[in-house]
Amino acid sequence: MIPVGTLRIDELTAEERAVYATLKPETLPQHVAIIMDGNGRWAGHRSLKRFLGHQQGANSVQMVTETASRIGLPWLTLYAFSLENNLRRPRAEVNFLMRLLKTYLESNLQRMMDNNVRMRYIGRTHELPAEVQEKMRWAEEATAANTGTTLTLALNYGGRSELVDAFRALAAEIKQKHINPAHITEEDINRHLYTAHMPDPDLLIRTSGEMRLSNYLLWQIAYTEIFVTERLWPDFRGIHLLEAMADYQRRERRYGGLSENIGQVEENSERVGIAAN
Ligand code: FPP
Repeated sequence: MIPVGTLRIDELTAEERAVYATLKPETLPQHVAIIMDGNGRWAGHRSLKRFLGHQQGANSVQMVTETASRIGLPWLTLYAFSLENNLRRPRAEVNFLMRLLKTYLESNLQRMMDNNVRMRYIGRTHELPAEVQEKMRWAEEATAANTGTTLTLALNYGGRSELVDAFRALAAEIKQKHINPAHITEEDINRHLYTAHMPDPDLLIRTSGEMRLSNYLLWQIAYTEIFVTERLWPDFRGIHLLEAMADYQRRERRYGGLSENIGQVEENSERVGIAAN
């Protein structure tokens, strides 16, 4: 598949170019989702306040997005603020994250434009403070005509609440159009997800070593390859995105089917009349 936008490989660092050169262009992931974790630990290891970890984390968001745009990755979806963060973190931290998001959008808009990045959001964003929503809309509208990477920030997002929202919308449609529930398909559910306009992620990256999905894109990651790194999010850069892609390309995606080799062995065995194990 031809990547979205123009490739700007010459803008990669020498280290990034070396990893990129090992990748097979025809099987690059089209959609990468990331659970950005470890901001607090990054700060703690340096005896700094947690908010400084978040600030460094925002810097990583920009660096990784720019590498993604240089290699023509069509979709990058980052878990920036979960419903659980909103409900369970101290108010002061939540307020800080909201201010950081606003500042991030303001100060990085020009770089988004320079990198041809389009900004979108998923989640119950209508519950965020009005001035944050306003800034989000501003950045989305300003970048709407960009044709490179779509950077989607998951904000006040939860996978289960997304499904609840989708089922509510679907139930309303069923009632209005008198649809027989027995005729509901996966596609009908897909249409009502926040991510209806995107392909499912090919690769999910989680930083800081935790082996959890944390309520992220639960429906969409049914066949997604998962890559967990010990690296903390504030230390994650474009080169680590490329390394995760290299690891992804060493996997064999089977979508519940058989490995191509096994299929071939079975076929050959049947032909000569022996059973394969
Ligand atoms: C987890 O760190 C990270 C988050 C709360 C969400 C990600 C937020 C950012 C990267 C900052 C800003 C983002 C944007 C788009 C401006 P944690 O606090 O859970 O880390 P810990 O598990 O080490 O405590």
